[in-house]
Amino acid sequence: MTLHVLVLGGTTEARRLAETLSTADGPRVTSSLAGRVTHPRLPPGEVRVGGFGGVDGMAEWIRAHRVSAVIDATHPFARTISFHAASAARATHVPLLALRRPGWVPMAGDRWHPADSLEEAARLLPELGRRVFLTTGRMGLAAFAGLDALWFLARSVDAPEPPLPAHTEVLLDRGPFSLEGERALIHRHRVDVLVTKDSGGEATAPKLTAAREAGIPVVVVRRPPVPDGVPVAATPEEAVAWLSALEG
Ligand SMILES: NC(=O)c1ccc[n+]([C@@H]2O[C@H](COP(=O)([O-])OP(=O)(O)OC[C@H]3O[C@@H](n4cnc5c(N)ncnc54)[C@H](OP(=O)(O)O)[C@@H]3O)[C@@H](O)[C@H]2O)c1
Repeated sequence: MTLHVLVLGGTTEARRLAETLSTADGPRVTSSLAGRVTHPRLPPGEVRVGGFGGVDGMAEWIRAHRVSAVIDATHPFARTISFHAASAARATHVPLLALRRPGWVPMAGDRWHPADSLEEAARLLPELGRRVFLTTGRMGLAAFAGLDALWFLARSVDAPEPPLPAHTEVLLDRGPFSLEGERALIHRHRVDVLVTKDSGGEATAPKLTAAREAGIPVVVVRRPPVPDGVPVAATPEEAVAWLSALEG
């Protein structure tokens, strides 16, 4: 019987996994996107868009579409969907794997300040700088909204959700970003502190190198945990090996 793999996506790794699995003798693959990005880069194979309607909705979808395995390849900071996937997989007795790219590791010369949330990042900022390069995405910027004495360059793929800090310049752009480009942004806007989530991956890592070169501090928001008991793969290749082992 052909496996039907549900890939919870919205990341480069999810797309790469769908590409790798989309061979003539590969499993049936459905990629699921939340529908947040206006023009997403679509993976090959079947694609469904939009929320499932919570744990019960996802469990229902898994049963109705005879899903044989779920790979949660969502962004490391997409916490709710990962916990929903863990509950739905448990309820339907379908194996679940989390595909999580490794987090970034500081290097000599880095001035990183870890934070457990965007709110904690906002609390740290006034001590660290005045001109902030904010790269945490379009959601949750309300955490910074009260920081009227600071200036922000807020970069996101789609327009950020208000409320925003009083002094904000919005930069709509999507990675991958080049080191030259990141250096130029920091220089042109006289950025003196960077805020990032620990998203990991290469596409958005050059900002960390540019910050190190410029000697500016970086507030790094830590990742939420993977739900208990869910095995983790670091690469699409490891996820394919997990699927192959299921097929036995
Ligand atoms: N958070 C980030 O920093 C970030 C960055 C880059 C990309 N993304 C991608 O953007 C999407 C949304 O992220 P988020 O942080 O808003 O997620 P979230 O807070 O974990 O999820 C909120 C709700 O959105 C729906 N949802 C999320 N991902 C989905 C998916 N792949 N397919 C179908 N429904 C999904 C679910 O709705 P229902 O309860 O109705 O099922 C979920 O309960 C994710 O797919 C993630 O991979 C997130």
